[in-house]
Amino acid sequence: MNPSADAPVDRLGRRFADLRISVTDRCNFRCPYCMPREIFGPGYEFLPRDAILSFEEIVRLAAIFGRMGLRKLRLTGGEPTVRAELSTLVRMLRETLPEIDIALTTNGSRLASLAEPLKAAGLDRVTVSLDSIDPEICREMNGVDFPHERVLEGIEAAAAAGLGPIKINAVVKRGVNDEGIVDMARHFRGTGHIVRFIEYMDVGATNGWKLDEVVPAREIIERLEQVEGLEAVQAAYTGEVARRWRWSDGSGEIGVITSVTQPFCGDCTRARLSAEGSLYTCLFASVGHDLRGPLREGADDEELYQRIAGVWTVREDRYSELRAAMTDDLPRLGRVEMSHIGG
Ligand code: GTP
Ligand code: 5AD
Ligand code: SF4
Ligand code: SF4
Repeated sequence: MNPSADAPVDRLGRRFADLRISVTDRCNFRCPYCMPREIFGPGYEFLPRDAILSFEEIVRLAAIFGRMGLRKLRLTGGEPTVRAELSTLVRMLRETLPEIDIALTTNGSRLASLAEPLKAAGLDRVTVSLDSIDPEICREMNGVDFPHERVLEGIEAAAAAGLGPIKINAVVKRGVNDEGIVDMARHFRGTGHIVRFIEYMDVGATNGWKLDEVVPAREIIERLEQVEGLEAVQAAYTGEVARRWRWSDGSGEIGVITSVTQPFCGDCTRARLSAEGSLYTCLFASVGHDLRGPLREGADDEELYQRIAGVWTVREDRYSELRAAMTDDLPRLGRVEMSHIGG
């Protein structure tokens, strides 16, 4: 589905279409590329309970986005399943926005028990983060020694509950899990699940990103072609983040997310709402636009609509394109963390 004619247009001609809602800034994993343990340790101060939007507040804002051409809602975190009663939120969103595609990005750790209730509440799809099929590399990459079999069980539970086709996101870091790309693709070939390899990104200010740790998507595809021929598949909709490929023997599809080597800001239709109700118009933003303040001070729907549409209309973000055009690293201090706005 392409962006709706009702949607506000930003300064670069891009219409709003997708909202990613972070329901918590907490996570039970400590993936070094996202929440390195040295920073997100026992002393780290997460948002206090009253700072976080209630379900009612989230639904009220989502309904306003619903009036401006929203086509897809994705729940993220941190890890969204650590928020209590997530299924209740899904049910409330489903009742308010019956036509909208509602998806969830999760680390899969709690999916085995949550897949069915989430589906029953009205969730359409899940995307599971899993960086390798090798147990040891997985444990290392989730930072908490979490057994990868439990994530695999979660994936199967989600498929059985009807939340497929399941997408599996793997962040590729050179020297850490890149040798396992082929095994990962082989493992899921023929299962109907779609593995998407993500170029490691310089989001936030804490993961110590270096360009030489990025494995370019072109190299990922070359390595995968050793398994079987690949044919490019057309994007499912304008602004699709992943570039899609299918195995020539009909055994399924894979994707690559090329934000470092082939940025896709040109048709970026995404807005992000943080757990404490700030609106971000780019994954690499330093500042958000507060919606919780006006919401709690009694603004009516029309005022909130005007505020949100106003933010979108002046949007000029195209961080990944700017980075690609620069030879030096861009300043990172002050940038919002991925775990705060959910990737
Ligand atoms: P569907 O197309 O609905 O399946 O979802 P999606 O691919 O848009 O969502 P998903 O959360 O799976 O996105 C995959 C990954 O792509 C994220 O974890 C990010 O790493 C990256 N990504 C998503 N959106 C953006 C974006 O706007 N900019 C950049 N630079 N990267 C993004
Ligand atoms: N680069 C690329 N993707 C990342 N994610 C988290 N941090 C990064 C990063 N630095 C992805 C995770 C997950 C989603 C929430 O964001 O793999 O799929
Ligand atoms: Fe948690 Fe996902 Fe970040 Fe890993 S990538 S630390 S699972 S939010
Ligand atoms: Fe959109 Fe910002 Fe990502 Fe570009 S870098 S695709 S503008 S979120």
